[in-house]
Amino acid sequence: MSGPRKTAIVTGASQGIGAGVVKGFVERGFNVVANSRKMTQSTEVAASDRVALVDGHIADPATAATIVETALARFQSIDVLVNNAGIFFSKPFTDYSAEDIKSHVSTNVEGFLYVTQLAIKQMLTQTSGGSIVTITAALARNPILGVPAAVPMITKGGLETVTQHLAMEYAKQGIRVNAVAPGVVETPLHRETPRDVMESLSPMGRPSTVQEIVDAVMYLTDAATVTGHILYVDGGAHFGRW
Ligand SMILES: NC(=O)c1ccc[n+]([C@@H]2O[C@H](COP(=O)([O-])OP(=O)(O)OC[C@H]3O[C@@H](n4cnc5c(N)ncnc54)[C@H](OP(=O)(O)O)[C@@H]3O)[C@@H](O)[C@H]2O)c1
Repeated sequence: MSGPRKTAIVTGASQGIGAGVVKGFVERGFNVVANSRKMTQSTEVAASDRVALVDGHIADPATAATIVETALARFQSIDVLVNNAGIFFSKPFTDYSAEDIKSHVSTNVEGFLYVTQLAIKQMLTQTSGGSIVTITAALARNPILGVPAAVPMITKGGLETVTQHLAMEYAKQGIRVNAVAPGVVETPLHRETPRDVMESLSPMGRPSTVQEIVDAVMYLTDAATVTGHILYVDGGAHFGRW
């Protein structure tokens, strides 16, 4: 990387996709601020002179503020935000409790909103553009019989909509806003999902790896005139039948 080091914020970074994204940015010479509720207990991501860890629930505006303050105090800029923190559990629509619904909206939607507002404010101040990539889900646009996920997909579909609105709102300022929509990915989220179920959820017959999602995030981070794009990384699950 030429010029001053750029800084990326990654939420939900203690394991799975988020931890892979942190490693990807470190390998590319970025500074990283990594957040999760138990970030400092992560066995995959450690603090260093280039990696700052922030513990806290991402739906709490105070956590978002601490992440941004940490980025500026330690690294002096915010160039990239990856909104990865998310929860998902599947059950029949009529079985979601009020608590289930609140936890999905809180982590997946509020967890996007506060940190993205603050990151965009800072990017506007810097006047050098920026990149925001949010991890959504192919299931938002492509319901699968036997995977009842209406409530979590309200949140993921909403994130795809806000991605396109923000892409348009900030296009002139060079702030690009995109999403990666995975199908099924081998992460701790699926610790208890049987292998044959994982394989059945992709037309290609296997789940994606964390690295394949990281590659998509890096592509969108670099793609200077791509904005408002939903990049499916799902073995073809978002179209047709299999
Ligand atoms: N795996 C898949 O098949 C798949 C498919 C489609 C979409 N996705 C999406 O990809 C993203 C990452 O999934 P993953 O499979 O890597 O999940 P994961 O292995 O369960 O990891 C989730 C990460 O988010 C953090 N997190 C959870 N709630 C949080 C909160 N309230 N505040 C801050 N951090 C929080 C967790 O750490 P703490 O416990 O320390 O907070 C952890 O680091 C999610 O948005 C998920 O919906 C995954």
